[in-house]
Amino acid sequence: MRVEFKNQSYLNEKQEIWVLPFWSKKEKSAGFFKYLEAPLKKQIWELMLRKEISGEEGTVALIYGFGLVKKVLVVGLGEQEKCNADVMRNIAGEVARKVQSLKLKDVAWFGDDLGATKILAEDIMQALVEGTILGSYTFDQYKTDKDKAKKLEKLLLITSKKLKKEIKESARKGQVLAEAVNVARDLVNIPANDLPPQAFVKKAKEMFEQKSKVTLEVIDAKAAAKLGMNVFLGVGQGSKNKSYMLTIAYNGMRDAKLKAPICLVGKGVTFDSGGINLKSAKGVKDLKDMKADMGGAAAVLGAMQAIVELQPQKNVLAIIPLVENMPSGTAQRPGDVVTAMNGKTIEVINTDAEGRLILADALCLAVSKGAKEIIDIATLTGAAVAILGDEAAALLGNNQRMLEKMLKVAKLTGEKLWQLPLWEEYLDYLKSDIADIANLNENRKAGTVTAAKFLQQFVDKTPWLHLDIASVVDYPENKGYKVKGNSGAGVRNLAEYVLR
Ligand code: BES
Ligand code: ZN
Ligand code: ZN
Repeated sequence: MRVEFKNQSYLNEKQEIWVLPFWSKKEKSAGFFKYLEAPLKKQIWELMLRKEISGEEGTVALIYGFGLVKKVLVVGLGEQEKCNADVMRNIAGEVARKVQSLKLKDVAWFGDDLGATKILAEDIMQALVEGTILGSYTFDQYKTDKDKAKKLEKLLLITSKKLKKEIKESARKGQVLAEAVNVARDLVNIPANDLPPQAFVKKAKEMFEQKSKVTLEVIDAKAAAKLGMNVFLGVGQGSKNKSYMLTIAYNGMRDAKLKAPICLVGKGVTFDSGGINLKSAKGVKDLKDMKADMGGAAAVLGAMQAIVELQPQKNVLAIIPLVENMPSGTAQRPGDVVTAMNGKTIEVINTDAEGRLILADALCLAVSKGAKEIIDIATLTGAAVAILGDEAAALLGNNQRMLEKMLKVAKLTGEKLWQLPLWEEYLDYLKSDIADIANLNENRKAGTVTAAKFLQQFVDKTPWLHLDIASVVDYPENKGYKVKGNSGAGVRNLAEYVLR
């Protein structure tokens, strides 16, 4: 999507639709109201007086004009005091979809006077751009009759004020972040037959190989075996699609080599059948939805795209274990014991608890690379869906400062997180009769917590966070900036955590 700033002289006939935001209560509009032609102004005021339209949060009314301006969307932003980035992001998403449903390719927002404190504030501007790009997302790669006319292509921001450069930077940041989310959405939406581990690696290469400050390394099965990643390899051994451990390093610091990176680790199970513990067709999520079990990997890739684009002075290392979990004659058996890179032995009680297995070796790798902080993200447990529904991801970790920073970031992004405990008592749930640890407690109590407790055994003392996004990897309906289907969850939380 193109994002452009214009001044009021842009008010011309070619622009089909204008967005005119109103606050509730004060019935106060953008300063741009005054630039509208008298008949249209009168019409809008009368509709307001008759309460046909209002500034109530989230309301969208289409008004037709017959002069210079053909269509106006009168949009309610709610009370000025309550308007924050999330309100704006959601409204911009609704507006974008409305415009798209009218088959229009560009939309112009009147940005004036809301006021210098609001639309023209940095976070709100970022949210407006994010919401527009996120809300208008569609996935039509597999439709043969693509309706190109339906896609929103341009967002115009109209203002009579001279803008601070920070505001334009915020708009750009919003654009970069939202486009990164859409990259993750695409990856998750692509069916598993077209995105086995190898294809994921290829996409990553296309995205990053030409970028400066970025080095990409692909660890294939042979190299992984040499490094001792037998837990990771065990999960993929039933599939004809080979497993890969992918690393992407972004070195944005001076003396980059000397500085320990923040590690982002994403679960990349390109399809999770459950393995020999085969899932049934219907469950918390249906078997067909398990193409989304690489949502963590997609989030890390999306976040890396945004980070590389915005060039912070940070070192970031992405580690993405990629496997397909399939049942076959070569598949891992329930009861098998495997040894992780750090020497710990694991009894595989259930082959469907595979995410924590591939992450175990990925986390060991992060530790061995000298990570100063590790954040992993994974569609890890059905229990997260049971606890949080579609509304939030679960957050756990061993470091208070990191936890607090991430919760703060989530407030800004609107990507809700809810912290769960990681008490030592839960480690007892994972006792194995024959190995150091079991990958599952058979009574399945506290599923999300025990999964995280398992992961913690592989980060050593490194400050670490775990985001379980099984609950939010897809969304059931169009609502605000969210669209039905795969969500790109976690991209903005990860990227903003690194950037801020
Ligand atoms: N990939 C699933 C978790 C999942 C569930 C992701 C729903 C997305 C939506 C994970 O590998 C899994 O199968 N977890 C099992 C573990 C079980 C065997 C204890 C689960 O949570 O049901
Ligand atoms: Zn599974
Ligand atoms: Zn899984």
